[in-house]
Amino acid sequence: MTSDIWKPVDQLAETLQDRLGHAPEIALVLGSGLGTLVDALVGRRTIETDKLPHWPSSTVDGHAGSIHWGQLNETPVLVQQGRVHLYEGYRPQEVVRPLRAAITWGVKTVILTNAAGGINPTLDPGGLMLIVDHLNLTGASPLQGPNDDRRGPRFPDLSNVYDSGLCEQLLMWAARMDVQLNTGIYAGLLGPTYETPAEVRMLSTMGADAVGMSTVLEAIAATHLGARVVGISCITNRAAGLEGAKLDHEDVQRAGAQAVDDLTALLTVALPSLGAAS
Ligand code: HPA
Repeated sequence: MTSDIWKPVDQLAETLQDRLGHAPEIALVLGSGLGTLVDALVGRRTIETDKLPHWPSSTVDGHAGSIHWGQLNETPVLVQQGRVHLYEGYRPQEVVRPLRAAITWGVKTVILTNAAGGINPTLDPGGLMLIVDHLNLTGASPLQGPNDDRRGPRFPDLSNVYDSGLCEQLLMWAARMDVQLNTGIYAGLLGPTYETPAEVRMLSTMGADAVGMSTVLEAIAATHLGARVVGISCITNRAAGLEGAKLDHEDVQRAGAQAVDDLTALLTVALPSLGAAS
């Protein structure tokens, strides 16, 4: 059964094949304010996402909609610059459609990055957190509705969403590069408000180390399709109530820019080993 959910995914995947040829092993999704990583791509080819069929277009500043094919450390990679979010009014299946198309095209490993508020006091703004697990607190799932059993299971196992082998690789490279990479649990919320201080205390009690408004639906959709997932949060602020200051989207984008240098350095060295099957 090819339901309405999959038709646009397949058409988008075919367009990627027509426009870019063979799929790279790895796709990288860049979160808020992390777009400058694109400048490091060698042999870059760019497609504006409004030229692609069925691509949901973002309505948020700092989420320019384009995809780039290029090489980082001689490793081909598809870079998705900007994503859409549930809080913009998109349905879960629209939020994950670009990633589903990339995986249907042939991508095997997805690296999801985001901007996040630090809850764990050891996470300083400007730093990176490797996501080792998540709390999906959006109240939604990209798998709600009919399942196409040829694509993935009805009840996927989520016990190793953030591939432990790839996490080890990244931690090893971070140590070698002297890039500080903490590990932690990412809580994905609907947004678009930042949290109340009481919510941040609740999230802390639940075991969350960082909080944001993306990533979890994409991680679920990618796992359902059998792709390997890596997640990295750029900590842009201390979550609400942990520091006196009010939270502001422009500050979040500025702090993202600080973390992007470390992120670029780390991904550049690690990319070849993330593509190889373990
Ligand atoms: N909360 C939710 N999302 C965010 C935050 C935050 O503090 N910072 C960046 N994205």
